[in-house]
Amino acid sequence: MAAIVQLKPITDVPDHLRASAEPRDPVFYQNPYAFYDRLQAGEPAFFWEQYGHWCFAGFRDVSALLRDKRFGREILHVATREELGMPAPQPHTAAFDLTEKHSLLNLEPPAHTRLRTLVNRAFVSRHVEQLRPRIVRLANEMIDGFEGQDSIDLIKAFAAPIPAIIIAEMIGLPAESAPQLLAWSNRMVAMYMFGVSHETELDANKASQDFMDFLAASIAERRKQPREDLLSHMLTSDRDGDVLSDEEVMSTAILLLNAGHEATVHTTGNGVKSILESGIDPVTLFSSEAQTAATVEECLRFDAPLHLFTRYALDDLEYEGLQLRKGDVVGLMLGAANRDPRRFANANTFDPFRTDGANVSFGAGIHFCIGAPLARIELQVAFSELFRRLPALRIAEKPRYNDVYHFHGLQKLMVSWR
Ligand code: HEM
Repeated sequence: MAAIVQLKPITDVPDHLRASAEPRDPVFYQNPYAFYDRLQAGEPAFFWEQYGHWCFAGFRDVSALLRDKRFGREILHVATREELGMPAPQPHTAAFDLTEKHSLLNLEPPAHTRLRTLVNRAFVSRHVEQLRPRIVRLANEMIDGFEGQDSIDLIKAFAAPIPAIIIAEMIGLPAESAPQLLAWSNRMVAMYMFGVSHETELDANKASQDFMDFLAASIAERRKQPREDLLSHMLTSDRDGDVLSDEEVMSTAILLLNAGHEATVHTTGNGVKSILESGIDPVTLFSSEAQTAATVEECLRFDAPLHLFTRYALDDLEYEGLQLRKGDVVGLMLGAANRDPRRFANANTFDPFRTDGANVSFGAGIHFCIGAPLARIELQVAFSELFRRLPALRIAEKPRYNDVYHFHGLQKLMVSWR
């Protein structure tokens, strides 16, 4: 089950509530904001024809629905496959499905609460703040590596390695494994593409199996000889005698490794692009800790890395006049909510000095991003070190976004600095 899909077709939707945008159309995914602007002018709920389910683009609704306990990421705890018309699991994606089975992102309480409590401690601000000096060193090593070149792809040479190495080291895997982890992760993330092909499913399944085999070896080592790392912590941690199974540890490690870099890589690329395209003098953006933090928040708001998350209605219910049946899907459009003109003044303007408050890029409610404090530190360090070392940084080639609408990030970002 790669992505949540609407199972019972929804019919009888009046024309004025329908909207159409093809997720694989380059015109759309290179600039989804043009579509969002049209949505903001319409009704709060709209029916996205290509996805076949209801969606919300307004800040107030997205924020409220993320917190609404009548909706969940999982549905099989309250309904059977037969009841929902859900197809049986597919054998050719069995390894991928296994990595998702115990993923925090797909669980609901009480299973979610149990697992989240066990890993949460490692990600609280106080703990991740200790990683700041390591992140500064790493960012500078990456920038040192630009030496002797006239231009560079910032995604490959800077944005991707930093979060991948940091999360690998936190889990207890060597920094040298980061490129391999990135490759597995990219192949697995392809499962979230709209209209995913059979070949992609097979490839993602193979990547999942290889990833699990790799982790199984590390888990076996840690069982023999625990270390001061998250993997050992997950294997030994217990709450009232409760210990995680190997499968749970594997799912959680894969989720952390994948979620722990994908969105941060994209935010680094999107953020550098936003800053450079704004024409604002970078010196003013990183003049203090508070301004650095505000710049990062504006990068997260203005060009969010994750645009669409979904929830199931856990029962027949009504939300603001919209009747939903148990199992109906609602799409919550984080990237659109961040540009809601009812919430943000000059919503389509990149303004790192704005004071009008929080965005929804990290979600909200029980699934609020566990890695938000870490991601914020990584982004603060990456941006401030990059612009401190290379004050003349500029875009060398028109950047293009990847063909994975949900994961809004650049394919490459060619920059020069002389
Ligand atoms: C800019 C970077 C990041 C962004 C924008 C981001 C965004 C998000 C969002 C929107 C969700 C909630 C999804 C939902 O409600 O369905 C989420 C959940 C999650 N994120 Fe992040 N994330 C980022 C970085 C990280 C990092 C660095 C880590 C780990 C080290 C991480 C680990 C997780 C985990 C484990 C969850 C699931 C939490 C749960 O279901 O309880 N994320 N993230």
